[in-house]
Amino acid sequence: MNILGIETSCDETSVAIVRDGRWVLSNVIRSQVELHQRYGGVVPELASRRHITTIIPTLQLAFEQAELEPAAIDAVAVTYGPGLAGSLLVGVNVAKTLAYVWEKPLIPVNHLEGHIYANWLTLPGQPEVEPPVFPALCLIVSGGHTELVLMRNHGEYTLLGRTLDDAVGEAFDKGARVLGLGFPGGPAIQRAAAEGRPGRYPLPRAWLGDRYDFSFSGLKTALLRSVEQYRKPSAARPSRKPTAQQPFPEYQPPEYLPGLPVADLAAEYQEAIVDVLVEKTARAAQDYGVAMVLLAGGVAANALLRERLRAAVTVPVRYPPPILCTDNAAMIAGAGYFLYRRGITAGLDLDVQADLPLVTRTAVTAA
Ligand code: KG4
Ligand code: ZN
Repeated sequence: MNILGIETSCDETSVAIVRDGRWVLSNVIRSQVELHQRYGGVVPELASRRHITTIIPTLQLAFEQAELEPAAIDAVAVTYGPGLAGSLLVGVNVAKTLAYVWEKPLIPVNHLEGHIYANWLTLPGQPEVEPPVFPALCLIVSGGHTELVLMRNHGEYTLLGRTLDDAVGEAFDKGARVLGLGFPGGPAIQRAAAEGRPGRYPLPRAWLGDRYDFSFSGLKTALLRSVEQYRKPSAARPSRKPTAQQPFPEYQPPEYLPGLPVADLAAEYQEAIVDVLVEKTARAAQDYGVAMVLLAGGVAANALLRERLRAAVTVPVRYPPPILCTDNAAMIAGAGYFLYRRGITAGLDLDVQADLPLVTRTAVTAA
């Protein structure tokens, strides 16, 4: 079964074709990073406008790369949440139009479930990825979410813990902004950390007792405090209030005196984040006797997190290749296949749901 997947929840426009939830035939990703970089983060209005201009050429390319015609598509899967409403609307409308014109089922996919199912995918020309086994423990770490979820079977999720404030990716992005490392912050911090040593400038870890919940906002505040002494006294904080001339204020990197230990601070910051994620995930894996740990979401691309988790957990730890960790449509088409097998489809009145949680499902009809 060939499923066309569409993903436009944030700042990547992506269209993919995946066979049987496992074989990626094409996965075209148009990143908007260069558009948002000067603002230091994603500007929702600019993101949705760029999706509008990019989605149709991306769709064409997905067919070209898979060397398929539209007649070969059996269903259309689309992210309908969580994400930016204006961005989600573009993908959902294109998906509904295609499903209507082709007279094929429409499958509504939760973006977070998509990230999990990236672990089932084999890229073209790559060795076959064995399907994960249950029960699995999923650590979902993205720009907007940090959740520890027990997956007993397809579609059977139990939330064990989540962040009480910032998401991990958000913590990386905010930390990078404080250190003047640019956007997106995760890869920038990872690069800077490679030149530094953790532990020289200690930062706190929020353990929260025995809970599986996370908290990262204190870490960011501690980082702010440790760079304060290096701030140039003369440096005026530019106003970031929108004006008619500048509706989207640009990001001004902070100005520091010489000597700010950027690499050491980045290394310690990354270490503090990874320490907490790994300790809680390893403990949950043991407590629930899972057969596997699955990493999912953009932060799953982090090399230190992967390495530490593998060392700390006794069962196999799986993570997608980096291109399938960050937002992409192949994971949406992949998840769509397993949803369809469970009878989940949507009508042409499907709406977006910006705050859609993973554990409950609405706006969906079981066939
Ligand atoms: O899953 P994703 O592409 O988008 C959301 O659904 O949010 O995740 C994006 C997040 C960003 O915060 C980015 O900084 C982070 O993933 N990220 C990383 C790395 N690559 C991307 N964080 C840490 N290390 C990385 N190598
Ligand atoms: Zn994502």
